[in-house]
Amino acid sequence: AQIVQAEFIKSSVRTEACPSDGLPEFALVGRSNVGKSSLLNSIVRRKKLALTSKKPGKTQCINHFRVNDSWYLVDLPGYGYASAPQELRTDWNKFTKDYFLNRSTLVSVFLLIDASIPAKKIDLEYASWLGQNQVPMTLIFTKCDKRKKKKNGGKRPEENVNEFQELIRDFFETAPPWIMTSGVTNQGRDEMLLHMAQLRNY
Ligand code: GTP
Ligand code: MG
Repeated sequence: AQIVQAEFIKSSVRTEACPSDGLPEFALVGRSNVGKSSLLNSIVRRKKLALTSKKPGKTQCINHFRVNDSWYLVDLPGYGYASAPQELRTDWNKFTKDYFLNRSTLVSVFLLIDASIPAKKIDLEYASWLGQNQVPMTLIFTKCDKRKKKKNGGKRPEENVNEFQELIRDFFETAPPWIMTSGVTNQGRDEMLLHMAQLRNY
C-alpha cells in the first residue's frame, strides 16, 4: 500500500462538526507525548503534517487528515499529563469519548502505548473503558526503537509489550490486534497500512 497524498482537512471540537463525507477513519489516541502525531507523520511519510512537540499537550482538537482522498487518519489530544489547564483537559476527555461512541465512520481506535516504559495506570484505564464500551480498537506500541533504561524500569520494549497485553486480557472477549512501531525508524509502518487496508475492506 503506497500513500500518494495526504492533507489536513479540519480541526473540530465536537463529533457533529467532523467531516460528513462518510469516508472511513482511524483515530490515534494515547497519553500526551506517546507519539501520536509522530506516528501519523511516519505513516504518511510527511515530517511535519501533524505538529509534534517535546512538550505534552500539543494537539488540542479532533484533527482530520485525508489520505488518498479515500480515508482519514484522525489525530486526537492526548490524555494524562498535558500541560494544559484542568478545565481544558476535562473538555478533551468529554469530546473524545463522545467521538468514540458516536462517530459512525470510525473503523478502529488506535490506542497508542509507549513500549519504552512499564504499563501506566491511566493507559490500563483507557483500554478498560474502550473494552467495556466495545469500541473497536487496535493496540499500537510506540517508541519501540528506544533501548531499555534503568530509570524506565529496565525492560526491553518486547517485555513491556507482553506485560501490557497480559494486564488488559480481562477487558476483552477477544484480544485486540497489536502492532509494534517507531516514528523514528518507521518500524511497523507497512504493517499498519496493511492492517488499515484490511479493516477498510470489510
Ligand atoms: P500530544 O499531541 O502532546 O498528545 O503528543 P503526541 O502523542 O502527539 O506526541 P508527539 O508525536 O508530539 O511526540 C512526543 C515526543 O516523543 C517528541 O519529542 C517525539 O520526537 C518523541 N517521539 C515520538 N515518537 C517516537 C518514537 O517512535 N521513538 C522515539 N525515540 N521518540 C519518539
Ligand atoms: Mg500530538
